[in-house]
Amino acid sequence: MKIADVIQSADWKIEKHAPVIEAPEKVAAGEKFCVDLSVGKEIAHPNTTEHNIRWIKLYFKPDNGKFAYEIGSYEFNVHGESVEGANKGPVYAEPVAKAVLKISTSGTLLATSYCNIHGLWESSKAIAVEG
Ligand code: FE2
Repeated sequence: MKIADVIQSADWKIEKHAPVIEAPEKVAAGEKFCVDLSVGKEIAHPNTTEHNIRWIKLYFKPDNGKFAYEIGSYEFNVHGESVEGANKGPVYAEPVAKAVLKISTSGTLLATSYCNIHGLWESSKAIAVEG
């Protein structure tokens, strides 16, 4: 058994758990760009005390390298918990995050996400450096 055996992947437009990576297809070397991360962009995922997205992680794997680099971890730590009971709390964190990056070589952005009930999910998006 490997971790890859328990990470599911799917088209985020039809599967609400797959992390969404929104980034340019092409960027200039060394210039800042934004990566928008989310879960449930097309089909909303529940956000309740019992069922929610806990985190999204983002990585970059350069085309000319063997290893992936971890870019960031984005945690969503509140989902309606309260002394009054489940879903009675005043605040819910939605699974949305933004990263600002600079890259010097083409590669692939990879994201993993975690639903407390439906486990680990992944997706990827190629990004090219122009020039
Ligand atoms: Fe779920």
